Amino acid sequence: MKKSVEKFNIIKNRKIKVDDFINRALYKPKIGYYTNKMPFGKKGDFVTSPTISNLFSEIIAIWIISTWETLGKPKIFNLVELGPGDGSLSEVLVKTFKNFPTFNNSVKFFLYEKSEFLKRIQKKKLNGTNLKWINDYKNIKGGPIIFFGNEFFDAIPIKQFFIKDKKLLEKCYIFNGKFLEETQCKPKLSDLNNLKSFKILKKLKFIEYPKQGLGELSKIVKKIKSLSGGVLLIDYGYMEALNESTIQIVMKNRQIHKKNLLKYIGNADITSLVNFSLLNEFFSKKKLNVKRVVTQKFFLERMGIIERAKILEKKMNEKQKKYMITTLSRLLNKSSMGELFKVIFAYKSNNKKFFGFE
Ligand SMILES: C[S@@+](CC[C@H](N)C(=O)[O-])C[C@H]1O[C@@H](n2cnc3c(N)ncnc32)[C@H](O)[C@@H]1O
Repeated sequence: MKKSVEKFNIIKNRKIKVDDFINRALYKPKIGYYTNKMPFGKKGDFVTSPTISNLFSEIIAIWIISTWETLGKPKIFNLVELGPGDGSLSEVLVKTFKNFPTFNNSVKFFLYEKSEFLKRIQKKKLNGTNLKWINDYKNIKGGPIIFFGNEFFDAIPIKQFFIKDKKLLEKCYIFNGKFLEETQCKPKLSDLNNLKSFKILKKLKFIEYPKQGLGELSKIVKKIKSLSGGVLLIDYGYMEALNESTIQIVMKNRQIHKKNLLKYIGNADITSLVNFSLLNEFFSKKKLNVKRVVTQKFFLERMGIIERAKILEKKMNEKQKKYMITTLSRLLNKSSMGELFKVIFAYKSNNKKFFGFE
């Protein structure tokens, strides 16, 4: 443990803010979780919808094509996947788009990924496609733009604040020589002012504030405002704030107790639940239209996932059918991902007929 503490530059008795700590744990070059380890799949630490079932990705492909139609079938249509992970979703999208030649000829497809390690994995998987990796959006021009991300937002570090003696304080960690203890720090005035500008956060005693995530979304909103289009985010989260920490530390598909955080630092994922009401308010404040937030179950069913499964079933043997039913129920069941995962779409367009939300 001493070694890992030194590597991550965590100094005894020096306070570190929650988001700074998570940033180091996930993205410190060479040793951060997303810079050195394959997180996805059965042998990884967690599974995501695109790594569970191709059906999920096919439905996203259909949603993207229907959105292109709603936007008037533009000749240039920019598409950006946010945080593509192991590239599973994009792989199915590329394959599905080939069945729709007019659409396919219009698409300019970009991948926005922070981790160099995952970029290498994506490039290997998507070898031979004409996808482009980007670090910012400035060279994307021409037609409208659609951003989409599955479990993108939950992977971005958050800040935490709490009220003590009527004062809003920021949560920090301090290394006491054995483990990380929770403590308090004086918040920056600009952070306090920003979070106080959100109605949804006003009455809370414990606040999770995705400063970095909203920074990412601000760049996205700016691009949507100049080109038109929208952003679709799918993630696990809530509508009613919980007044408690939602940070989870996950390894080998299990949650790890936060007391053991330092032991597994760099080898465990750290995520938090997404506050969809906050995202809603954020997009509205930025003057984008927002579709009502729906559950993953609602969205996938509205987009025809059951009908698609019935078509595929006809060509399957019993073993394949069984597998498809199991994975489909993981995506849709209330007790699994169906309700906890939610979908939000914020957009700028005169036509409001986007599918999946009504
Ligand atoms: C939880 S994974 C989800 C991966 C994939 N979308 C899936 O559903 O399987 C989060 C992804 O977002 C990327 N990511 C996190 N923060 C990012 C940022 N600020 N900019 C770009 N990519 C980021 C991670 O490196 C990773 O690829």
